Parts: sequence; C-alpha cells; structure tokens
Amino acid sequence: MCSLKTIVIRVDAKNPEDTLLKPAAEALKKGELVAFPTETVYGLGANALKPDAVASIFRVKGRPADNPLIVHVADPAGLEPLVSEVTPLARKLLAFMPGPLTLVLRRSKQVPDLVTAGLDTVAVRMPDHPVARRLIELSGVPVAAPSANRSGRPSPTQAWHVLQDLDGRIPYLVDGGPCQYGLESTVVDVTGPKPVILRPGSITAAMILSVTGVSPVLQDTADADVPRAPGMKYRHYAPKARVAIVDESTGPAIAAKIRGLISNGKRIGVFACERLIREMGLSCIPVDAHTEKATVPADGACFSLVYGPEPDAEKAGQALFDALRILDSLGCDLIIAEGLPAEGIGSAYMNRLRKAACLDEKTL
Ligand code: TXA
Ligand code: MG
Repeated sequence: MCSLKTIVIRVDAKNPEDTLLKPAAEALKKGELVAFPTETVYGLGANALKPDAVASIFRVKGRPADNPLIVHVADPAGLEPLVSEVTPLARKLLAFMPGPLTLVLRRSKQVPDLVTAGLDTVAVRMPDHPVARRLIELSGVPVAAPSANRSGRPSPTQAWHVLQDLDGRIPYLVDGGPCQYGLESTVVDVTGPKPVILRPGSITAAMILSVTGVSPVLQDTADADVPRAPGMKYRHYAPKARVAIVDESTGPAIAAKIRGLISNGKRIGVFACERLIREMGLSCIPVDAHTEKATVPADGACFSLVYGPEPDAEKAGQALFDALRILDSLGCDLIIAEGLPAEGIGSAYMNRLRKAACLDEKTL
C-alpha cells in the first residue's frame, strides 16, 4: 500500500489547465484514487459507481465501513440520477449549490451500497471550486469523496496536509493551494418536512431558514428517529497533542497553568486572536502559518499561532486544521485553542474544536 509514488499535480486554482487535470481525471474514471481541493477541505475522490474504487477509499483512510461518503457532482444535472426524488426542500436549497452544502436525499439504485454504508439515503454535494468541478466534469462520473485525511486526523486544508497523511498511499494529488473555508460542508437531511442539520458548516441555520422558510432542526435536538450523520459519532480532527479550549473567562486561569507547564519543560501551542493572547499575558514565540517557521528552543516554550486581530469565527475556522497540524509538527504537548460563541459559522467552528479537544480548564 505504501509502495506507490504519489504524483502531485500543481494547477492554477482559478483556471486549472485541462492538460494537467486530464491524467488525474482518467485515473479517477478508471477506479484510482485522486485527492483534490474543494472550497471546504481537500477530498479523496473515487469513481462513485465502482464499488472496488470506493472500497479503496475506506482502506486507504482507515475509515470505519459504517461511515457513508458524500458523492460530488459538477452540476445539478449530475444530482438527479443519484437520488430517487429531489424534494421541495432540496430544490430550495439548490440556491446554495454550488457551495459548501451537502444534501441527504433518498438514494437511487445507481448508488453502490458501499457509498451509503447500506443506508437508504445518499449525501450529495456540488463543490464551488474550479479545480474540483473541472476534475469531476473531465472524469465524466460522480465522485465519492471523504476528506483526504487518515481517519480521526484533522481534515486537510492544504496539499501538504494530504501528503502528511497519504503520501505513498494514493496515485494522484491535485494541488490547488489552500481551501477557502477550511471547515467541511454543512450536511442537511432534506428527506422529511423540516431540514435537519447533521453537521454544521458555513451554510448556517439562518441561511437555510432564509431560503426554505422552515427553521432547521439541529441534530442534537432532533428526535431520536431522525437519521444522523454516522461520521459525527467518531473522535475527529485529533492532532497528536492534547487540545484544550480557552476563552476570555478561562484565559487567566489557563495562562497561570501554562506558565507552570512551560517551566516543567513542556511545549505549549496557542491558537487564538491577538487580543486573547494579549489578555492572557503570555509571552509566546510567534509562528508564521505561511512559512511554519518558529525558533524552537530545546526546553519548555509557548508558541502562538494567530488567526487575526479580533475574535472572528470565519477566520478561525479557515485556519483551525492548519494550526493543529503546524503546532503538532513543532512538537507541542498541549494545544490551547480559542473558544468562540457557537452562533452562525461559530457553531461549525466550535463543533470541530470540541471534537478535537479532550480537556477543559479543570482537567488541564
Ligand atoms: O466539505 C466536505 O463535505 C468534504 C469535501 C471533501 O467535500 N467532505 C467531507 O466528507 O467532509 P467526510 O466523509 O469527511 O464527511 C461526510 C459526513 C460524515 O459525517 C458522514 O457520516 C455524513 O457526511 N454522511 C454521508 N452520507 C450520509 C447519509 N446518507 N446520511 C447521513 N449522513 C451522511
Ligand atoms: Mg472527514
């Protein structure tokens, strides 16, 4: 499995060159795996109509077989053959497609069981990224694609993240630079009378309400018989370091503990806005997310990775998975990440952060 040489194809993210994409598109069609950028995160694609190709996604990722995959299409016409009915709710939500939205609908017979993990529904999405859309178009097939990370690791938002997890395990990686949103799509079940948000994302509950006229149900508060996204039950987004969440109210207590840990030789990474780092009164070594450069001292230290000047869920969401990987690569024992109000895009950011975190300020 690790004997492959992964071919990295660098393309222009806005205007990908057909000549460069064609070998990857042909490989996809034949049944090989191709990692590619979308506006949310990098996906690990396979021809959704070939069960063997789909099986290799599960093998390469180490993904549990009961966790179904999203099928990606280039345009609305590609969606129809995959589902038994485009419900009125789904029709309204097409307003956000292409975009960071996945719809769960009753499946058609065309979709192999492996893709849906045996469910009678299928998740479909139309990415809003020129590279993803052109690659799917050129392949001429619907593309099943989970996030291109090893199962349980943070989703990849840059090409090097994919290589970190899958180099030598996949034949092709299309490198289109960093992803715009950095958090995975909103997954909405639209099979019933109300939209049910199974995974929050950049298409927010308010946006869904605005086009459907119906308040979406959030998975946590949904009736027990409403289907859930099976993937949400697994521990996710986990870097090697332990992760704790900090905010303005817990900042001072956590800062005191961090100082103690540093003097005991521990390496701490802080992911926050400038304001929170200032308020915590920590003196950290700044890490440049673009170069991943930092001066690494031999003993205890604190590294800071700043996503912006003020609290901002959109910017924090864009940078989170990259930050977890960078702070891991600096050998941090503990990562402290900023908690934000779980509203709007903040609910997607906090959903991912809570899954990555295993500590609070008491257990730190
Ligand atoms: O932004 C994204 O959605 C990215 C890019 C690559 O498109 N993909 C992605 O896929 O995040 P993945 O496999 O990492 O997450 C898919 C989620 C899982 O939580 C899975 O359980 C849920 O969607 N899902 C897939 N099919 C489903 C279905 N039929 N019913 C309920 N949930 C489903
Ligand atoms: Mg994933």
